Amino acid sequence: LKEIKAVIVGFGNIGKAFLRVLMEKSSFLENKLEKKVKIIAICEADGSLVNEAGISLKEALSRDIKRLNYWKENKNAVSLIQELDLDILFEFTPGNIESGEPGYTHIREALSNGINVITSNKAPLALKFSELMNLAKRNGVKLKYEATVGGAIPIINLRDTYLFGEEIIELYGILNGTTNYILSKMTSELLSLDSALKEAQELGIAEANASYDIDGIDTAAKVAILANSLLGKGVSIKDINICGIRDITLEAIELAKKHGYVIKLIGDCKKLEVAPKLIPKWSPLNVSGTLNAITLETDIAKKITLVGYGAGPRETCSAILADLIDVLRDL
Ligand SMILES: NC(=O)c1ccc[n+]([C@@H]2O[C@H](COP(=O)([O-])OP(=O)(O)OC[C@H]3O[C@@H](n4cnc5c(N)ncnc54)[C@H](OP(=O)(O)O)[C@@H]3O)[C@@H](O)[C@H]2O)c1
Repeated sequence: LKEIKAVIVGFGNIGKAFLRVLMEKSSFLENKLEKKVKIIAICEADGSLVNEAGISLKEALSRDIKRLNYWKENKNAVSLIQELDLDILFEFTPGNIESGEPGYTHIREALSNGINVITSNKAPLALKFSELMNLAKRNGVKLKYEATVGGAIPIINLRDTYLFGEEIIELYGILNGTTNYILSKMTSELLSLDSALKEAQELGIAEANASYDIDGIDTAAKVAILANSLLGKGVSIKDINICGIRDITLEAIELAKKHGYVIKLIGDCKKLEVAPKLIPKWSPLNVSGTLNAITLETDIAKKITLVGYGAGPRETCSAILADLIDVLRDL
């Protein structure tokens, strides 16, 4: 068994869900890939848990990590990257869409030090995609980010494997589960946008700062990542034209319905645009609730639509696990 040393930066919903999945899948990874992933540090905003002999995942999940013996106050991710001998850094911090921080610095430092990175954090990639991908290439390591777009939908890895030889002609879809939930509620129950948003917040599926979802910023970040990744565009979120769903009224929803349409917030990676669109009721993009749906059209396969959970800690770990397996195969 080859031992692979890894650090987790950001131990919130995703960090914890990923540790659970790693516990569930560790024997599988050992049997199939002959690799043992050893987590030697877990880094939070105010300190880190560090044990080079390997952290007990069970203990990290069942206790407050700040009360464990190996907790080091004020030890941050950048100093860990420089001090520890690491193969993989998992970056699961919240991203500031203006600066990309703190994830941008974590990812840049890890790649510069020859460490593979797997992240669910959109902001650094929506802002600095080409710079970070080039940095990974120059340092002979991988930067994997399937979890940043479409949660459990395997869009990036599908393009990198099965559809690698094809030209992508169109790429668009529903990339934000919260706005889809709100529009679905407005359509099926005639709830106002404000009531549907309130419901989404009570269910914990909307950010406290609703603007990120409602005004299309989250969708635009994903459009930027997909446009770079699948279409080779070389853009940042600043190049995306954004119109959210704030002004969608029940009258507009009803009128659309009468003519056989639904209104959906669509991110279009070819046009670099986010806007509410009329979608025919029969379209495979007409998915309800928090589901995401992405259509890609290629020169050979023609249209393919992928539908799945666009968020949720455990569902998102499907993408992180796939990225981990890809990295492990090369180590
Ligand atoms: N949740 C989902 O379903 C989902 C799906 C796809 C992608 N994502 C993305 O994945 C990332 C993590 O999401 P989440 O839901 O796990 O967020 P979360 O629950 O807020 O967890 C983030 C964690 O990062 C820590 N953190 C903040 N700044 C840090 C720093 N400088 N160094 C180390 N740790 C730091 C936070 O600590 P404090 O609480 O002490 O600040 C918190 O424990 C985000 O970028 C999110 O957009 C989430």
